[in-house]
Amino acid sequence: MSNNLLKGKRGIIFGALNNQSIAWKVAERAHEEGASIVLTNAPIAMRMGEINELAAKTNSKIIPADATSIEDLEKLIAESMEVLGGKLDFILHSIGMSVNVRKGNHYTDENYDYTFKGFDVSALSFHKVLQSAMKLDAMNDWGSILALTYIAAQRIFPDYNDMADNKAYLESIARNFGYHYGQAKKVRVNTISQSPTMTTAGSGVKGFSEFITYSELMSPLGNAKAEDCANYCIAMFSDLTKYVTMQNLYHDGGFSSTGVTEAVISRFSDNK
Ligand SMILES: NC(=O)c1ccc[n+]([C@@H]2O[C@H](COP(=O)([O-])OP(=O)(O)OC[C@H]3O[C@@H](n4cnc5c(N)ncnc54)[C@H](O)[C@@H]3O)[C@@H](O)[C@H]2O)c1
Repeated sequence: MSNNLLKGKRGIIFGALNNQSIAWKVAERAHEEGASIVLTNAPIAMRMGEINELAAKTNSKIIPADATSIEDLEKLIAESMEVLGGKLDFILHSIGMSVNVRKGNHYTDENYDYTFKGFDVSALSFHKVLQSAMKLDAMNDWGSILALTYIAAQRIFPDYNDMADNKAYLESIARNFGYHYGQAKKVRVNTISQSPTMTTAGSGVKGFSEFITYSELMSPLGNAKAEDCANYCIAMFSDLTKYVTMQNLYHDGGFSSTGVTEAVISRFSDNK
């Protein structure tokens, strides 16, 4: 269903790897709502080729960029403005990767080269995207830039490992850059803290399927689906949320405010 919420708007969407990716759903919804978009991902992710299907479906161009490379980012942003025919109204940063998680290194036994690589990809890349966009004066006034995060930035979830530190840094960038971008250009910068979602990045976390069930039981509304996260992103890209900036916005079915639920406590009952 379309309400033309993004009619005439232009944007860049990072991170659509396959049709489970949150960014994939955002791209589909942005297209439905009338936006023109450029899709981007790391050159290595292009080899899978699935993004071509999304590009055809959303009538969009793909411009590869490693989000840790300033050179790639500046080229991506400049080319996107050319392809889309003007300055941008929104950007989605939907990127995350921890080498320590991939290699199975415990949080107390990190390989710091891996830690830095994961930090660069998952957190610093957001600063690089923002700084490149600002330097190229690529955003229209009241534009909206989002990154996706997880509540492990505030609370300990042991298997989330060093991604928790990366997400804390990512959320801090949204606040700090949001101040400067707001003052300079009225551009909004926020993070959306999403429920656990079965995607390639998500399922890399140890014990993820058990954890998704726990989170479902701990959320009064249940876990938020990727499609609903996409709807929230569309709302945040639209003019209906013009004064929301520098926030970490929970999109988690109530998980973040819940101490315990009856569904969870009943599992500890003697009668069970
Ligand atoms: N899945 C979850 O449970 C969940 C929950 C909360 C937040 N998030 C966040 O949502 C975002 C999207 O993840 P997803 O769950 O859709 O998984 P995903 O695996 O589909 O997306 C991650 C993307 O990051 C891209 N990427 C990795 N390195 C890159 C680089 N150097 N340059 C550019 N792109 C690079 C990958 O190619 C991939 O497209 C991530 O920030 C993730 O941490 C996910």
